[in-house]
Amino acid sequence: MNRPLGITVSRHILDSQRMHPEATGELSGLLSELIVAAKTISAEVNMAGLADVLGQSGRTNIQGESVQKLDDLANNTIKRRMARCGYICVMTSEEEEDIIPVAEGYEGKYTLAFDPLDGSSNIDVNVSIGTIFSIHRRRSSLTTGQGTQGDLLQKGATQVAAGYIIYGSSTMLVFSTGEGVHGFTLDPSVGEFFLSHPDIKIPPRAKYYSINEGNTPYWDDNLRRYIDYVKAEDKADGRPLSARYIGTLVADFHRNLISGGIFLYPKDNKDAKKLSGKLRLLYEASPFAFIISQAGGRAITGDGRNILDIEPESLHQRVPLIIGSKYDVDLVEDFLLGRR
Ligand code: AHG
Ligand code: MN
Ligand code: MN
Repeated sequence: MNRPLGITVSRHILDSQRMHPEATGELSGLLSELIVAAKTISAEVNMAGLADVLGQSGRTNIQGESVQKLDDLANNTIKRRMARCGYICVMTSEEEEDIIPVAEGYEGKYTLAFDPLDGSSNIDVNVSIGTIFSIHRRRSSLTTGQGTQGDLLQKGATQVAAGYIIYGSSTMLVFSTGEGVHGFTLDPSVGEFFLSHPDIKIPPRAKYYSINEGNTPYWDDNLRRYIDYVKAEDKADGRPLSARYIGTLVADFHRNLISGGIFLYPKDNKDAKKLSGKLRLLYEASPFAFIISQAGGRAITGDGRNILDIEPESLHQRVPLIIGSKYDVDLVEDFLLGRR
């Protein structure tokens, strides 16, 4: 029997490009190169147990966290490939303090921010991990040459594309170029991503809540009231919600996107660093906020701001992140702002 034909991700990208006669094909080219990097990382992740790439690299990153070998490997894979793709002018990565220049003569009109390996604490224990990316146009498309930090410090609302790859029970790529959210599953036997989840919409109400409850003593009272509320029984209202927390943002987000849920990494007072949350704006919160808004959900900080509207001030800035089904994000905002 013939295999079903399937829509490859390159076919999908070219078809959407065709709807825009003004498109130059540069964004398509950028995405295609990034997808090759993702396939390379996926292959490494699957080999990890065999190929001696598990464990610590011995280095500490600028966030003070120990860097796992796979973090380094994923970072280098993306950096090396994208520096010569010809479509971007500057990059930033969770693993590097400074901006990452591209190869001379290869400068293009886009910028790239990425978290090469999300969920580092899950690498060694065979739990899902991921990669996150965010793409902006450089501030002035008339400018040429190397991009600057200023080109990277742009708010989420102006992203031209954002997405993630989840290395889970299968490898999936989910992304948006502002025309809905589409999911592709890697068929490892042919090395291609095929469209498996066209036009994903998040269910309007959450089935799951995802938060690290070990941080309860460091939360503020309004948040505690909300978490008590979602755990209280009210069958007609669909409560209690079920708890799910993987500790890999990509995986927690993906599950909630497909099944309906709310993910929270609020600010807490465990230590000074976490007073503005844990997750990073440019390559964690902002790309997911773009995707969730395209999927009909919402992303906020909990102190009255929408993630997509935050003007970034530094490359590795942290923000509180509350993201997921719209009804539930609205509700938690009411709790946090003292409106209920
Ligand atoms: P990273 O592995 O890129 O440093 O990110 C880890 C993040 C995120 O994936 C996850 O949601 C969160 O850290 C988990 O933090 P806690 O262990 O504090 O719950
Ligand atoms: Mn991360
Ligand atoms: Mn990471």
